[in-house]
Amino acid sequence: MGATRVGMIGAGGVAQRHARVLSGLPNVQLVAVTDVLPAAASRLAEEHGTRAVPDVAAVLAERPDAVYVCVPPFAHGPAEDAVLTAGVPLFVEKPIAINMDIAHEIAALVSAQGVRTAVGHHWRYLAAADRARELLAGRQVRLVAGAWLDKVPPVAWWPRRDRSGGPVVEQAAHVLDLIRYLAGEVIEVAAAGNGTPPPVDGADVDGATAATLRFANGAVGTLAATCVLGWKHRAGLEIYADGLALSIGEEGLTAREGDREWTVESDPEDARVAVDRAFIEAVRGEGEDIRVPYAEALRTHRLALAVAESAARGRPVTVDPGPADGELGAARESIAARGRMPAGGGTVAGRAAVTREAAVAREATVAGEAGVAGEATVVGEAAVVGEAAVVGEAVAGRASVAGSAGSGSSVKPHV
Ligand SMILES: NC(=O)c1ccc[n+]([C@@H]2O[C@H](COP(=O)([O-])OP(=O)(O)OC[C@H]3O[C@@H](n4cnc5c(N)ncnc54)[C@H](O)[C@@H]3O)[C@@H](O)[C@H]2O)c1
Repeated sequence: MGATRVGMIGAGGVAQRHARVLSGLPNVQLVAVTDVLPAAASRLAEEHGTRAVPDVAAVLAERPDAVYVCVPPFAHGPAEDAVLTAGVPLFVEKPIAINMDIAHEIAALVSAQGVRTAVGHHWRYLAAADRARELLAGRQVRLVAGAWLDKVPPVAWWPRRDRSGGPVVEQAAHVLDLIRYLAGEVIEVAAAGNGTPPPVDGADVDGATAATLRFANGAVGTLAATCVLGWKHRAGLEIYADGLALSIGEEGLTAREGDREWTVESDPEDARVAVDRAFIEAVRGEGEDIRVPYAEALRTHRLALAVAESAARGRPVTVDPGPADGELGAARESIAARGRMPAGGGTVAGRAAVTREAAVAREATVAGEAGVAGEATVVGEAAVVGEAAVVGEAVAGRASVAGSAGSGSSVKPHV
């Protein structure tokens, strides 16, 4: 197999990092870079001896084997849509959007297209995360304490809620993702924001957020986030189980079990390389270690948005993590068996069209259009569960929803 041809959409800080990591992997060739700022695309392209092109269509015209989408949170949607519709494997940076609507729409398209996806939650590749999983295996987690205590990053969009989604969605999402990976699903959050933005021009995000988390397995936890420091103070989590205390960050893990305490160091750079290597190897058919495909990032995003919503509204928010992967697999099979949607692979156009139409219908009140109502119900449910593959189950199992669609109810996604 020849070199894996990679296109890059967005040429800012994180795109530069991915380009650097990719250039160090064997058999990877960066074939095109685009950015809404042509100078940024040109700079990155020049550094890597490749071409800057005017837009996403021009990236896809290079017939890449995979595309990285490294745009700010508010800009997600159109690029992913184009890449997936072309049937091209997609690596996308976190957070996957600033709301659930676009994330649901893209998740449905991912599922319909059956292409490989990976999201930049590289913390799951930390040696500390591996070691923590081993230590926690077979134990009941009791308490989790996550924190992201930092400065405002030097990008203009960051301190604006409508651009970044806020510090929990944009930054603490790494910690929330690792919390889910190590301690299980959160089913309810109750958060408060301090209401005063960080002292930065144009900022309207909370300077600090505190949240409590209730887990499906009975564990409880907290998340603390602030962006008012002038430095990165601490980012990580502590996990407590009977007779075991773990402290985990990008630099490593400290564990104490009874009288024994030890530390495992990890180089954060290793995980940043590993997340790209795993994606490229999966695209090449040489590996199966994508730890956060799009559907998994959707769950982390739902949790982060629930914390942000709870802080904004001042009341607890229930989180529906959606079905486990095994259930999704079964749903996919059963949908395929009924001929509603292929289990994976195949051509693009028909399925993409259905998904998009349905995604639009999900937003609307679907009264009166029986034909559309069926699809809307289908994808409305997919949006709720976060997986288009679940849709067929929803159709089969939730006839009452279809009925209410016909009588004028709108199908709303969960947060
Ligand atoms: N996983 C990680 O460790 C990590 C690290 C840094 C950033 N990130 C994430 O990556 C994303 C980008 O962060 P960044 O630091 O690179 O931001 P940045 O502002 O440095 O770069 C973003 C680039 O995207 C471009 N852009 C904006 N809209 C575009 C569009 N529609 N099409 C093409 N290009 C567009 C901008 O012009 C800019 O050059 C953020 O969501 C951030 O959270 C992740």
